[in-house]
Amino acid sequence: ERHDLAALAREAAGQRVGLGAFNVIQLEHATALVRAAEAAGRPVVLQISQNAVRYHGALEPVLAATLAVARAATVPVVVHLDHAEDTDLVRRAVELGVHSVMYDGSHLDYDTNVATTAEMVAHCHAAGVVVEAELGEVGGKDGVHAPGARTDPDEAAAFVEATGVDLLAVAVGSSHAMTTRDAVLDTELVAALAARLTVPLVLHGSSGVSDEGMLAAIEAGMTKINVSTHLNQVMTAAVREVLVQEKPPVDPRKWLAPGRQAVEDEATRLLRLYSRGRAG
Ligand code: G3H
Ligand code: ZN
Repeated sequence: ERHDLAALAREAAGQRVGLGAFNVIQLEHATALVRAAEAAGRPVVLQISQNAVRYHGALEPVLAATLAVARAATVPVVVHLDHAEDTDLVRRAVELGVHSVMYDGSHLDYDTNVATTAEMVAHCHAAGVVVEAELGEVGGKDGVHAPGARTDPDEAAAFVEATGVDLLAVAVGSSHAMTTRDAVLDTELVAALAARLTVPLVLHGSSGVSDEGMLAAIEAGMTKINVSTHLNQVMTAAVREVLVQEKPPVDPRKWLAPGRQAVEDEATRLLRLYSRGRAG
């Protein structure tokens, strides 16, 4: 099944390889990321965050375009709604044919997170849509880094049991929106969570993790690897290089194309790194 995030993540977890999940802001990202997945011979997850939906002012145009790019791919491409805190947005995405969603109730107290996540799981599963949830808040979304947050394995097992989620995002030392790659992951906790849970683990804020740190985390049992900021840095650097020229181009394609190429190249490298030749 090409669009089943749960099956792709279970397969990756079984092989101890990572499944790359990268954020789409505009059409160029979707194109670049699918080209990267095809070059690496790996599946990929294209994620549209609630923040990106807010930027566009609506879900449908960006989701429809991303779904069309995914359909034309020669490798499995999952189109995923990322960090949805708005339950109406989850329902709308399901109506519009999204393949999977992350319902993010990590900011809620435990009981409310369980209740709302379970409600989203019932709704999504009825439509064949896979659900990721988060327990133990990975910080940094508000610019405040809190790498000290940790997910407790026993609480995580109870959460998965009570909600029926397909994947679980956990707090193990990463933080969102890091522009340096020096986060220190608690690989012992990753291993403990992987041993305790029946569902694949998701790492948010992966931009702050070095290549070596990521390989160790994947070896310990981390599976879905969410990267956004790092690829944004790579894209913006490539665009900047063009625009600082003495006579910068006027046609946006002249700076968008190098930006798109830079995302494709780095995403290809990351997808190969995550599988280290074990798959694909
Ligand atoms: O959900 C998206 C990821 O957690 C991205 O985080 O921008 O820090 O790589 P990042
Ligand atoms: Zn995230």
